[in-house]
Amino acid sequence: KTGMFTFDPGFLATSSCESKITFIDGDEGQLYYRGYPIEQLAEHSDYLEVCYLLVYGELPTATQKAEFERTVMKHTMVHDQLTRFFNGFRRDAHPMAMMVGVTGALSAFYQDSLDIAEPEHRKVAIYRLISKIPTIAAMCYRYNQGLPFNYPKNDLGYTANFLHMMFATPCEEYTPNPVLVRALDRIFTLHADHEQNASTSTVRLAGSSGANPFACIAAGIACLWGPSHGGANEAVLKMLDEIGSVDNVPAFMEGVKNKTHKLMGFGHRVYKNFDPRAKIMKQTCDEVLNELGLRDDPQFQLAMKLEEIALNDPYFIERKLYPNVDFYSGIVLTALGIPVSMFTVIFALARTVGWISHWNEMISDPGMKIGRPRQLYTGAARRDYVQVAQRG
Ligand code: SDX
Repeated sequence: KTGMFTFDPGFLATSSCESKITFIDGDEGQLYYRGYPIEQLAEHSDYLEVCYLLVYGELPTATQKAEFERTVMKHTMVHDQLTRFFNGFRRDAHPMAMMVGVTGALSAFYQDSLDIAEPEHRKVAIYRLISKIPTIAAMCYRYNQGLPFNYPKNDLGYTANFLHMMFATPCEEYTPNPVLVRALDRIFTLHADHEQNASTSTVRLAGSSGANPFACIAAGIACLWGPSHGGANEAVLKMLDEIGSVDNVPAFMEGVKNKTHKLMGFGHRVYKNFDPRAKIMKQTCDEVLNELGLRDDPQFQLAMKLEEIALNDPYFIERKLYPNVDFYSGIVLTALGIPVSMFTVIFALARTVGWISHWNEMISDPGMKIGRPRQLYTGAARRDYVQVAQRG
């Protein structure tokens, strides 16, 4: 009771969204995409196959997989006029600011020809987003760096093509390292979906009004940008830079305990045990640093020391704080040559398939209604207007 209205706790249960896409057991540290454990998908699958699984609900046959890959890779280019949006940004604009703006602008290029009530038209929107989001992401980086945009090279495959668009220069051939391609592809898989998190809920709420899918994904990107959500991996690297060396860890931890700052990359709204993605991310980090001969990377060493200390500290144990997906991802991305400012863009790239799968699941439900989260009113009771002369 709030003293004025009777509060029906049962209402909260009905206001959550049902979904068949992703299952999380926060206590057991389990994450399943369409019933498949993330550990098995990270080991045996690849990101485009995971995209098919999230969108259609089943792993593709060999024929379906080949057709899906062919269709996605056929549409990696963006409308040439879309590239002109970048010229409106300052060169030092945050890549996420450009990502939000340009992805939203896709509405102006593809929306008029799509009626989202038609399943085939929804499929087109889903494919266009999966195809073009890496191209837009790479363009954000290239514009920031003052470099010319690279056209997609579709024969490279989805993730290798993204690295090509990011790092190739007209001056010399660029051949992505297969170990690094595999690592980034796995990072995309780890970030592909995560149930009804803040940004996915944003996409669902925007989509429930009938807004076009490109605008809904732009809304999801905007939400993901926050440091408590997708911006955490960028915040982890800044935290590691501030700590500087293992000698400074005890003082830093004191600051965490008296709440002057948080241990970024730790804790989670759902996982109150380990985040299964963090374990795979740490292995991937290890693989990449070994491949690049960076095993003694000081940031990786510092991160491992921080993790070791936190996992044995009662403050963190009592609060069930464990590394989440963002704790090691920043170190891997840095080793791949991706700047800190692009970390959340990478997260948004990978999460687009999760967002659009949730959007499609919701839109496909004939009983769908516009979302309207209820509030618990705790403001003033009814009262009459007072003339300004009587207000004292
Ligand atoms: C993502 O929802 C998703 O699925 C998100 C995501 C996805 O894939 O979409 O998994 C991606 O967003 C991962 C989270 C990335 N964010 C960070 O790493 C930022 C640092 N983490 C925190 O801001 C925090 O852990 C949250 C926001 C993630 C969760 O916050 P909650 O729900 O408030 O955590 P809690 O209720 O479990 O907190 C319990 C206690 C509190 O202290 P007390 O009031 O009990 O004394 O733990 C403290 C919190 O203050 N706490 C932390 C902490 N996280 C929680 N203390 C220090 N460092 C932290 N990181």
